[in-house]
Amino acid sequence: MKFLVMTLVSDKLRVGVLFGGRSGEHDISILSARSIINVLDKTKYTVVPIGIGRNGRWLSEGRSQQMLTPGYQRLEQDTTGPNKLLVSAEELGRLNEVDVVFPALHGPHGEDGTVQGFLDVVGVPYVGADVLGSAVGMDKAVMKALLSFHGLPVPDYQVVYKKELESDAQFVIGKVEKRFTYPFFVKPANLGSSVGISKVKSRGEVDDALSEAARWDRKILVEEAVDGREIECSILGNEEPVASVPGEIVPSREFYDYFAKYHDETTRLIIPADLSQELVKEVQRLAVLAFKVLDCSGMARVDMFLSRSTDKIYINEINTIPGFTSVSMYPKLWEASGLSYTGLLDKLIALALGRCQ
Ligand SMILES: Nc1ncnc2c1ncn2[C@@H]1O[C@H](COP(=O)(O)OP(=O)(O)O)[C@@H](O)[C@H]1O
Ligand SMILES: [Mg+2]
Repeated sequence: MKFLVMTLVSDKLRVGVLFGGRSGEHDISILSARSIINVLDKTKYTVVPIGIGRNGRWLSEGRSQQMLTPGYQRLEQDTTGPNKLLVSAEELGRLNEVDVVFPALHGPHGEDGTVQGFLDVVGVPYVGADVLGSAVGMDKAVMKALLSFHGLPVPDYQVVYKKELESDAQFVIGKVEKRFTYPFFVKPANLGSSVGISKVKSRGEVDDALSEAARWDRKILVEEAVDGREIECSILGNEEPVASVPGEIVPSREFYDYFAKYHDETTRLIIPADLSQELVKEVQRLAVLAFKVLDCSGMARVDMFLSRSTDKIYINEINTIPGFTSVSMYPKLWEASGLSYTGLLDKLIALALGRCQ
């Protein structure tokens, strides 16, 4: 009997959940990881939490567990460590024991292909997009160029470099004003959670908006403002991706900024979105196409704008590691489409292993 129990235990798949990390979305990542770890079916999986400090250092098992404790505050020690390398031999050893990794990391150094490349190099399968899909999905300029190359609708945009701003800001502003009417959006190319994004309503606000975006990135996007409803669709699959029912975000603020995303309880998620059958089909078709042309796999959430005046759909962005808390849109849309959160995690792990084979 004892032998049998041990065999069963060792048959469980070991899932390493990576979370925290260097990006501004460190705290959100911890929330995503907590939910994933809570929901993973413990009769099938042994969970190995792998926390990453704010400085990028991979943490021990004990420290990783500490990070997952509700009420956890930043560990000051995260900024120091005995080794030069951010991943020590001990942490590599822990990685060696897992069968598959779930990167619950959002933003740069996690959602952008870097961690994916590292996992490829060391030979561990992982959930979600591979290096290419992650990298193009992270960079809003490359993503939009690829989408429009394939004929998919995106808001009109222009790329501005920090270097150009430093050498002649007035010239850059002149070009922007020729192309766009107020209001328009200014955003860093590689970030998330609406950090560094401004809605610019007049000439007086342009300088500050560009400087703010330039604090975060050397590459900045200026975009026409679409007066639209914010529609999101979850995608699941590798070669034959499928779309969930669409959902809608209704922020009560000017736009879906950082505060609206994480602190404003009046932001509403409408699931499923109230759309005609034709629009649902069109949202799903465009979301699947975006997923394919950006070479994604496993999962992604495709965010769109539905113009209030014309019903035209614009693709705003793709998130290759969407939020995964119990109230996040990605799992919620699957629940509304008939797939439970636990079932969704099973599928994602199967897709990760399937891609490797
Ligand atoms: N071109 C645009 N037109 C209208 N609203 C926009 C536009 N770009 C961004 N926004 C608003 O800003 C929010 C965040 O922008 P987004 O490009 O999705 O960046 P992030 O990756 O930080 O989520 C959007 O959800 C939307 O509310
Ligand atoms: Mg967004």
